[in-house]
Amino acid sequence: MTNKHKNQHEKIETNIGLFIFFTVIAISIGGLVEITPLFFQKALTTPVDNLRPYTALEMEGRDIYIRDGCHVCHSQMIRPFRAETERYGHYSVAGEHVWEHPFLWGSKRTGPDLARVGGRYSDDWHIAHLIDPRSVVPESNMPSFKWLSENILDGELTKKKLETFNWLTRNRSHKDEQGNAIPLYSKEELDGAKAAVKGKTEMDALVAYLQSLGHALK
Ligand code: HEC
Repeated sequence: MTNKHKNQHEKIETNIGLFIFFTVIAISIGGLVEITPLFFQKALTTPVDNLRPYTALEMEGRDIYIRDGCHVCHSQMIRPFRAETERYGHYSVAGEHVWEHPFLWGSKRTGPDLARVGGRYSDDWHIAHLIDPRSVVPESNMPSFKWLSENILDGELTKKKLETFNWLTRNRSHKDEQGNAIPLYSKEELDGAKAAVKGKTEMDALVAYLQSLGHALK
């Protein structure tokens, strides 16, 4: 390096304003290059073929999953490593999650990943496990959620929730032959939403949700 160049670099390194300015530029370019393409890659924004929307009951179950903090101990994100795929099944892909708001990937695994727990156990197993985890897994340190079988859903907000998801996913739904977006929920489904959950317990809803997890890709 010539002396002249050395001095120019020294100017940047010893001037905090200049240094911050160039650092921000460098990080912004790096960020844009990595993040921008993700918005346009089809595989990341298109639902996988078998993806179906949550039913009204599953959607209520999902809200209970969030309310009771299941995502604080359980991830829903199978990484593409052999140790993970042998235990949990096919690794998670973006197309399975394009309708998730908010996504529940999580990052803390006090308990196992639940991305594909649907169908792995019977409904009765889940109910017994949620009421008293140690009745089926003696060494479990998962807390009991026994109130779920006592709380009854009234369905007052269910339709609104489904409508909100129609709106949130308006640019990422399946398309018909003409290329028009098919809303996640039809008018009949919206009108029937309250009746579909009213009188069911929170346990029914949560178990329905758990059984739906991973349905699109087994
Ligand atoms: C404090 C952490 C914690 C919380 C909160 C928690 N779990 Fe768990 N969960 C665990 C642990 C640990 C296990 C493993 C032992 C067992 O099977 O009980 C587990 C296991 C499970 C399993 C069995 C998974 C498998 O593949 O065998 C399911 C299903 C499950 N939890 C669902 C839930 C749901 C639904 C909630 C919220 C209502 C919840 N958990 C909240 C810690 C937690």
